[in-house]
Amino acid sequence: MDKKSDLPDFVKTTSDTMDKIVSLCKRRGFVFPGSEIYGGLANSWDYGPAGVELKNNIKQLWWKRFVHMRDDIVGVDAALIMNPKVWQASGHVATFNDPLVEDKKTHERFRLDHLLEQNGVNVFGMAFQQMVVKVKEMNLKSPKGNELTEPKQFNMMFKTNLGPVESEDSVVYLRPETAQGMFVNFKNVVDTARKTIPFGVAQIGHAFRNEITPGNFIFRTREFELMEIEFFVHPSEADKWFEYWLEQQKEWLKEIGIFDEAVFVEIPEADRAHYSKRSVDTEYKFPFGQKELYGLAYRTDHDLASHQKMSGQSLDYMDPHTNEKFLPHCIEPTWGLNRTLLAVLCSSYREEGEGADRRVYLKLPAKLAPFKVAVFPLLKNKPELVGKAKEIYQSLKEHFTVAWDDRGNVGKRYYSQDEIGTPFCVTVDFQSLEDGTVTIRDRDSKEQIRMKAYELSNYIQQRL
Ligand code: GAP
Repeated sequence: MDKKSDLPDFVKTTSDTMDKIVSLCKRRGFVFPGSEIYGGLANSWDYGPAGVELKNNIKQLWWKRFVHMRDDIVGVDAALIMNPKVWQASGHVATFNDPLVEDKKTHERFRLDHLLEQNGVNVFGMAFQQMVVKVKEMNLKSPKGNELTEPKQFNMMFKTNLGPVESEDSVVYLRPETAQGMFVNFKNVVDTARKTIPFGVAQIGHAFRNEITPGNFIFRTREFELMEIEFFVHPSEADKWFEYWLEQQKEWLKEIGIFDEAVFVEIPEADRAHYSKRSVDTEYKFPFGQKELYGLAYRTDHDLASHQKMSGQSLDYMDPHTNEKFLPHCIEPTWGLNRTLLAVLCSSYREEGEGADRRVYLKLPAKLAPFKVAVFPLLKNKPELVGKAKEIYQSLKEHFTVAWDDRGNVGKRYYSQDEIGTPFCVTVDFQSLEDGTVTIRDRDSKEQIRMKAYELSNYIQQRL
């Protein structure tokens, strides 16, 4: 079932469980290799019918929790391509770099920190120059055994040109983070949203980074989605709000059921982003190792001060109660959407039973499941069963995302719904035509009970 041959050659993961998850994602329509009919494009992925539902459910839950349910956060949706001065001011043009070395023979490129780690060096807290010294001391070779080039810093922003003329003047960047769209709109939001500090701006959107070594399925890609909040506070209250947002990130992990596999890591200065005075990463125990899932950074007034200077526009905030004028400081909790989806899949993946009883299922939190319920007619070729089942399917659609399946036998349908994590399956059989009852089967316990069809909606609502 979980054959490696389901996967294109460029898919390289580092554990059996990951291979199984990648295979399930393809087979059940969560994630497909990008541009597959052309042989794929390395490390690009497309989200299929089940994947887009799961991804949207995560986004909606996040937006509801952090925007709609709060009075102190508003949303924006800024342009992907921004004035290039934004990236000069933010420091990304000068310092958004990864350390790079190249195999002199094959011209393959590697991240120096990753190569050192693979050779047993703990690079945590190591500055670029220290890594350069280390690689020379160790006379490190490429994984193919060839000489490496001198390490250099590689800027990860994708460049393109605006308009028909390709010149230095038309260079723009694809945004590497959504954050700057919130900083440059700080004044617009203050002027229109009637929020007083402390308040936050939230955004969900795509970001692009020309990663040197993408990999591990959707974990590190060159195109991904972020869910970010820039929370503006009085400088004297920054420490308090930093702790508050760390707690909020923990609460979120609990809400989506992945808290137990999470680890919180205080990041030393040398490893922090150029803008951060303090950072705590949430790491997750993925099957291929413990890796960064989310970030939390104290960006001080780095961004507002830089934009104020570069644009010549005052971004000062006037406190309406005290009349104090100041540049707010910013606490930034960041959630990677694709990594969230991957962590949710990893923590939900279950295999149980032997032989004919063996099954794979996703124990997804019901609120994240792509479909909450599936409806089947017992037999596809009995119009009276199909008609009744369609009626129930349509009425449940008013309340939930509902899947329809009339292929194969009921056992096979359970099997495929288990694999996409559908919490309930409803079967319409001959008894349904007589007494209006149906069977409803629970994904996790596999228990089936009979109930009146008109009770389904309430029952499912309560159980969800
Ligand atoms: N605005 C702050 C910021 O962008 P970051 O730590 O560079 O911070 C935030 O990125 C999050 O984005 C990470 O914690 C991770 O979840 C996700 N992320 C970063 N690079 C990624 C990549 N290449 N592929 C997928 N997700 C990525």
